[in-house]
Amino acid sequence: MKLKLKNVFLAYFLVSIAGLLYALVQLGQPCDCLPPLRAAAEQLRQKDLRISQLQAELRRPPPAPAQPPEPEALPTIYVVTPTYARLVQKAELVRLSQTLSLVPRLHWLLVEDAESPTPLVSGLLAASGLLFTHLVVLTPKAQRLREGEPGWVHPRGVEQRNKALDWLRGRGGAVGGEKDPPPPGTQGVVYFADDDNTYSRELFEEMRWTRGVSVWPVGLVGGLRFEGPQVQDGRVVGFHTAWEPNRPFPVDMAGFAVALPLLLAKPNAQFDSTAPRGHLESSLLSHLVDPKDLEPRAANCTRTESCSVAQAGVQW
Ligand SMILES: *[C@@H]1O[C@H](CO)[C@@H](O)[C@H](O)[C@H]1NC(C)=O
Repeated sequence: MKLKLKNVFLAYFLVSIAGLLYALVQLGQPCDCLPPLRAAAEQLRQKDLRISQLQAELRRPPPAPAQPPEPEALPTIYVVTPTYARLVQKAELVRLSQTLSLVPRLHWLLVEDAESPTPLVSGLLAASGLLFTHLVVLTPKAQRLREGEPGWVHPRGVEQRNKALDWLRGRGGAVGGEKDPPPPGTQGVVYFADDDNTYSRELFEEMRWTRGVSVWPVGLVGGLRFEGPQVQDGRVVGFHTAWEPNRPFPVDMAGFAVALPLLLAKPNAQFDSTAPRGHLESSLLSHLVDPKDLEPRAANCTRTESCSVAQAGVQW
C-alpha cells in the first residue's frame, strides 16, 4: 500500500514536470494573436502622427487673406429716382430696387412727387436693403399735367430731381434713410434713373469713375433702336438722334452721369422746369460741361448691351 502511494506521487510529479516544461516552451513561441495586435499598434501610430500633424497646422499662423476687395475705395454711385403714385408704381420700384441691389457702393435717392412720404414707398425702401435717402416734394400745380395731357407739355420729375441735388448740396430735406449729405471730398457720381427704365448692371461700372460728365448709348428712345453719342478718336463729335439734333446736349436722362465734385462745384446747376420739350437734360448739362469734353463710355459708345433702355412712351 505504502509503495503504491509512492508510485502515485512519482507519476503525479512526472506529469506535473512535463506540463510545466510544455508551458515554458509555449511561452517562448510566437502566438497567433500577434498579427492583429501589431495592426492595431500600427493604426494607433498613424493616428498619433495625424494628430500631431493637425496640431502643428493649428499652431501655424493663418495665411494672409488673398487681396480683400476694398469697397471703401470705390466712388459711390448716387442714383436719383423721381417717382409718383400710379397703378404700376410698386412694380416699377420693386424691379428697379432689385437691379440696384446688384451694384456695390450705391446710394439710392428716391424722391416722391407727393405732399408727404407714402407708406408704399417708405415700406419698399425699408425692405430694399439698399443704402437710401427718402425725399419728398410735390410738383407745383401750374407744372402738373392735367388729365389727358401728353407727357411733354411739362417735363415730369423736375422738382424731384432738383430736390435730390439740394440734398446732395447739404440743404437737407430727407424724410427717411440716410439724412446726412455726402461729407466734403466724397468721391462719387450722380445718375438720374427713372423708375420705368431698364438698366444693365454693367452700366453702373461704366459710370463709376466719371471725372466730369460721361455719356453712352440708350436703347429704345426717341423712336430709335439706339440713341447716343458719335465718337471719333475717343472724343464725342456729335449725337445720333432722330429728335432735334441741334439741341446743345441731345442726350436722354438715362444716357449720362455727372461726377459729384463737379455738381458740388457748380451750385447753380439744376434742371429748369421751363425748358422746352427735349431740353431738360441740356438745362442741367450746359452748366456743367462743354459738349466736346463729354467722356464716352461703353467702349467709345459701341457697347450697347451694357447700357440703359428707356421704354417707348416714357412719361418723365
Ligand atoms: C476709344 O477710342 C480711342 C481712340 O481711338 C482708343 O485709344 C481707346 O482705346 C478706345 N477705348 C475703348 C475702350 O475702346
